[in-house]
Amino acid sequence: MFKKIAFLIVFASLVLAACQPAAPAATQAPAKVWTYKDMTVGVLQTGSEGGWRAANTKSFKETATQLGLTLKFYDSQNDLAKQVAGFQQFVQDPEVDVIVLQALEVTGWEQVMKDAKAAGKIVVVSDRRIDGLEGYFVTYIGADFVEEGRKAGNEMCKLLEDSATKNVWELVGNVGSSAAIDRGIGFRETAAKCGIEVTKSQTANWSVVEGKQVTEAWLKETKDVQGIFGQNDEMAFGAIEALKEAGLVPAQDVKLISVDATGGAFQAMLDGTLNVTVECNPLLAPQVYEAALAALNGETLPAWIPSQESVFYMDDPNLKDVAAGRSY
Ligand code: AHR
Repeated sequence: MFKKIAFLIVFASLVLAACQPAAPAATQAPAKVWTYKDMTVGVLQTGSEGGWRAANTKSFKETATQLGLTLKFYDSQNDLAKQVAGFQQFVQDPEVDVIVLQALEVTGWEQVMKDAKAAGKIVVVSDRRIDGLEGYFVTYIGADFVEEGRKAGNEMCKLLEDSATKNVWELVGNVGSSAAIDRGIGFRETAAKCGIEVTKSQTANWSVVEGKQVTEAWLKETKDVQGIFGQNDEMAFGAIEALKEAGLVPAQDVKLISVDATGGAFQAMLDGTLNVTVECNPLLAPQVYEAALAALNGETLPAWIPSQESVFYMDDPNLKDVAAGRSY
């Protein structure tokens, strides 16, 4: 009898407990809603290469001030080992919430990406894509470098339309970078369609000086060149100087196309020494910080957030006005 009563009491209390409404969520701490003022962002810059990189760095620093976020800026001095070490430093820094990687090269990131994930850091890849490792960063923000190369190839085809021979020299960015690899792929894809041959190709590390030295060396070997593709403005500026010193008229005897569309490229077009420049937008910071904030607040982001870019021409009748309206 006693056992029956005891069982009924236990059973009744279990039924009662099951009928009790769940404990209000109030007991679970509401998810923190991040604002820019709460964020500390570690930006891993490649180093200093030219006008584009200077505008990109300025974009990160000025936008951080405008938004009121804390920026830790790491200059990798164009040294991959230093950039990897800087990444690790941000992983171990308890203040850093978000790491922004502008990769010098497409590989070498596996271990530090895994460490960042384990440490609960948000990683955004911007400007330069890396190979693989999707799932270790929340999005890539930047250009389609292959498409930039394709645009340059199409424009070189137009410039050499009436040329009997179409020998083109390519001044390449730093070896191993996505910008250099992809622009080369895109350029060859479209240039081949009109019979262009890339007869010389060598890195000039995004620099005016090396762009000049490499072109000078090639001109000592031969002057059988109808076009030069500078993978950035600075290398094209170097080629312009070398052509002039070799008695050739840049943009006439030898057609010139660059990538970036910095102020210097507009000046070269206004001077009549550069035919075309394909834009690569350096002002990435607003999109990067916006994505970082969204990711901190739990949003899922698209794998790629493209930057907006155009193409500009020396023979554009409105070039002067266009140039006057540029912010970098
Ligand atoms: O990653 C973008 C490239 O890096 C720019 O085209 C070049 O000027 C810079 O050095």
